Amino acid sequence: MHELQTRFEAEVAAAGDAAALDAVRVAALGKSGEITQLLKTLGKMDPETRKVEGPKIHAVREAVQAAITHKKDALEQAELDARLATERLDLSLPTDTGPKGSIHPVSQVMDELAEIFADLGFAVAEGPEVEDDWHNFTALNIPEAHPARAMQDTFYVEAGEGETPLVLRTHTSPVQIRTMMSGKPPFRIIAPGRVYRSDSDATHTPMFHQVEGLVIDKNIHLGHLKWTLETFLKAFFERDDVVLRMRPSYFPFTEPSAEVDVGWSTEKGRRVVGGSEGWMEVLGSGMVHPKVIEACGLDPNEWQGFAFGCGIDRLAMLKYGMDDLRAFFDGDLRWLRHYGFRFLDVPTLSAGVGA
Ligand code: DAH
Repeated sequence: MHELQTRFEAEVAAAGDAAALDAVRVAALGKSGEITQLLKTLGKMDPETRKVEGPKIHAVREAVQAAITHKKDALEQAELDARLATERLDLSLPTDTGPKGSIHPVSQVMDELAEIFADLGFAVAEGPEVEDDWHNFTALNIPEAHPARAMQDTFYVEAGEGETPLVLRTHTSPVQIRTMMSGKPPFRIIAPGRVYRSDSDATHTPMFHQVEGLVIDKNIHLGHLKWTLETFLKAFFERDDVVLRMRPSYFPFTEPSAEVDVGWSTEKGRRVVGGSEGWMEVLGSGMVHPKVIEACGLDPNEWQGFAFGCGIDRLAMLKYGMDDLRAFFDGDLRWLRHYGFRFLDVPTLSAGVGA
């Protein structure tokens, strides 16, 4: 082995820190380092000698360079090990974390909905809660003075002179409009969120939650709607015996329109979803009205689809056996714990609800 290689490898091995190692590097491979100087002698050699000496000198340079790199890594690792050993945090001291929160059934159901519909290829869309009159009504084929406006007890937001009239959205349906106007079809979305109506008793609160569904594509028909709702409700209630009944109905933004009931039956004296002892209404749906598609700037001869709207609080009440809607908005942890909505429980669908 070349004398220079032997010497520098020994010096590299002896270097105890980054500064010492760098000094070796400069002495060997720096501008006037010994190996660099040796490389320069190649130019002056006659070709025959160079052929023999060239590879040897380059091998020395490479070997020393490799030794330096290797040592540098080792030094860095040693430094890291030393730091990890001295900077260890003691995480064993218990702290008072205070009372733990619970997932709210509405959040839980929203997560479940997003999960179920994601499997069916639906994205989650959002819209503002303070909505303008056009998106909330007009574009949904509910023109001014239309009796359907009276179907929903609207909260109006004061607007200045000449400003667009604003409302607290009375349903999630305006998100259909916003979706269709903000992208290119096809669309497949659900839009969960808060809605507002001037109404309050055991089954109505002025703020509640809905989820809207919208599919716009070519050649979409009622069969797709029925299959989608059936698949959704079976997955949501986690039962295969969920039965649907579609009843003709009227909504200004769909034609034809259908109200959808699910069958219930009695188990251990309790009314549960599944079977068909009786029926309860769970959602409104239909084929999106051509006028709505047109209002969004799309050609209804080319694009069509279905929509549905469903009360989330109601879904939660049915699935988790809660009977007073107002309790949803009291924020009483005892109520949440009573229904098993404990913090970080074993997940069923989505995460959070224990058996
Ligand atoms: N927006 C309706 C409501 O709040 C619910 C609804 C019915 C939504 C039919 C829809 C639909 O998308 O197709 O009462």
